[in-house]
Amino acid sequence: MISIKQVDYNGIDSLEYVIEPIPKVTTNGVLVKMSVLPVVPTDLKKENNPHATSEQFGKLPRTIGVSGVGTIVAVGSNRDQKLINKRVFLLNPAGAFSEYVLNENNNWLFVLPDCVSDNEAATLTATSLVLKKEIEKSTSSNIFITGANSVIGIYLLQQLNTVNKKIYPIVTPLSKTYLNDFLPDIQVYTVSDIKEKFDSAIVADIAGNTEILKVLSDKIVDLSIISIAIMTQNEFSNFKFVHESFDHSTYKHLIEALANHSLKAPIGEIFDDHDVKTAQHFLEDNHSRGRILVKF
Ligand SMILES: NC(=O)c1ccc[n+]([C@@H]2O[C@H](COP(=O)([O-])OP(=O)(O)OC[C@H]3O[C@@H](n4cnc5c(N)ncnc54)[C@H](OP(=O)(O)O)[C@@H]3O)[C@@H](O)[C@H]2O)c1
Repeated sequence: MISIKQVDYNGIDSLEYVIEPIPKVTTNGVLVKMSVLPVVPTDLKKENNPHATSEQFGKLPRTIGVSGVGTIVAVGSNRDQKLINKRVFLLNPAGAFSEYVLNENNNWLFVLPDCVSDNEAATLTATSLVLKKEIEKSTSSNIFITGANSVIGIYLLQQLNTVNKKIYPIVTPLSKTYLNDFLPDIQVYTVSDIKEKFDSAIVADIAGNTEILKVLSDKIVDLSIISIAIMTQNEFSNFKFVHESFDHSTYKHLIEALANHSLKAPIGEIFDDHDVKTAQHFLEDNHSRGRILVKF
């Protein structure tokens, strides 16, 4: 089978297509033939920087990707035999861009309802719910979301309708129309639209641009920043980096929400499995317009 591997820190063009044996199904495992995989910015960061994430999966060579959708083609004797031929979403932070992935963790495997398509499921990310929890905990009634048109931002915005706070989704000027079209009921701002001063606010930072955070900090007296994109020390005093923990119940909830149409999946461009490098370059060179997917 083909696996797409990061072998160094020289970026996208150093990725290698490697032929490997198909994993043998283990007694605790199910073998999944992959069909759709998301192209994620975290891979781009990892391909250039060994300290790009807080995860412990950084040894090279490593198979890229963290999740994907496929069909179960073999089931180990200790797993539920009814899983055979089921369409599933799986989490595999140790690498998902292979024709076949062996899943041995039932908490990271989700059978998909018929009404959730492969493409919709492949966009799933639970990081939005990490930010939502932080927003719910905050006593501040003003919430700014930078990078609101991102895949994570779109999932977050759709889940904030139960939160009784004033939301300011912030985007770059070229992304305003896209987010307005995708979520027409939500008012969208660029940072220069924000004219007033605020006593207090929380910023859910998805864009990771310190210039935008500086502009906001000049307008907010009591500011706290929760970032999923900046891990390093910085000039902001009330600042916290948060990350997702691949929690089973969160993904189960998201799949149910896709199935009952309370969530809409942002699906972007779709590439062929021979074009993974092109897909990653497309992600790098373009504004976010839904999750870029690769079909295996
Ligand atoms: N902490 C965690 O657990 C975790 C997990 C997953 C992902 N992440 C990180 O979260 C971020 C968002 O992920 P995603 O998949 O939602 O990405 P995405 O859909 O590609 O969106 C990226 C967002 O960042 C904005 N952006 C990028 N560079 C910018 C800049 N220089 N100035 C202003 N805005 C900028 C983009 O704006 P435009 O579209 O207008 O360019 C877009 O809104 C990534 O940095 C990713 O690595 C963190």
